[in-house]
Formats: sequence, structure tokens, C-alpha cells
Amino acid sequence: MSLRHSNLGPLKHTPIGFRLMLPDKFTEPVRMPDFNDFEPVAGLHQIPNEGVLGVVKSNGERVCLIRHRDRITAIANNCTHQDFEMALGDVLPDGTIQCAWHGARFDCATGAVQQGPATKPITVYEVRVEGGRVLVGRGNKP
Ligand code: FES
Repeated sequence: MSLRHSNLGPLKHTPIGFRLMLPDKFTEPVRMPDFNDFEPVAGLHQIPNEGVLGVVKSNGERVCLIRHRDRITAIANNCTHQDFEMALGDVLPDGTIQCAWHGARFDCATGAVQQGPATKPITVYEVRVEGGRVLVGRGNKP
């Protein structure tokens, strides 16, 4: 004999009473979120042409989204020189972003230093654009 009980599953009558039969979705192990997975952080329309947008990932990492020639890239939102916010910088025609504080320039795609005073490359994040949303994945920080 089987009785339907809400949306959880049938109730099975056993010699010692009823046993709730849980569907597989309740008995499979729960997958905890992996903070290195891609996650949506902004709408594509929010990033201005030849401009930047500062966002924060769910794990607290600050990321600077960059739109240059309709390509979206993402770097850490803190300069490797003195931690100034990169989203306050400018995207230059050569595909670099210039920090607004002391003028260090980084390649928007590779994070390589193109001009000091910064000496260390900036973290670059994986980016995907899906259905008008920008998703950011792992950063390449050492
Ligand atoms: S903080 Fe960016 S160049 Fe100094």
C-alpha cells in the first residue's frame, strides 16, 4: 500500500508503521558551492564601451570587468602597486588599463605590467558571457 504525502514521495506501509520514501534528490549528497566556479557578477549592458565596472564575487574577491573592443576581460580590482581600485582607472586604446593613482598600466587580457611603478602582474580571471550575463571564474593568482 502506498499513500502520497505532499511532494516528498510516497508513504509505504510497513509492519511497524509508515516509512517515507524520499526521491533521489533528497538522498543524493549535497554539493557545496565551489567558489572557483563561474558565477554571474553583472549584466553585459552594465559595462560601458571602453570602460570598466567593479564587482565583488560571492567569496569576497573584488574584480574589475573591462570592455575593450567588445571583448570582456576581468582583472583583480586592486592594483599590485599600492592596492588602489582598478575600476577607477582608464581603458586605453592599446588594450591596457591604467591605474588612476600612480599610472601603472596592465595588459587587460594577460595582466602583464606594461608600465611602472607596478612590478608584479595583476590577477586575471576567466570570463564567460552567457545570455547577456557576465560570469567570472577563477583568477590566475599564484
Ligand atoms: S596604486 Fe596603482 S600605480 Fe600606484
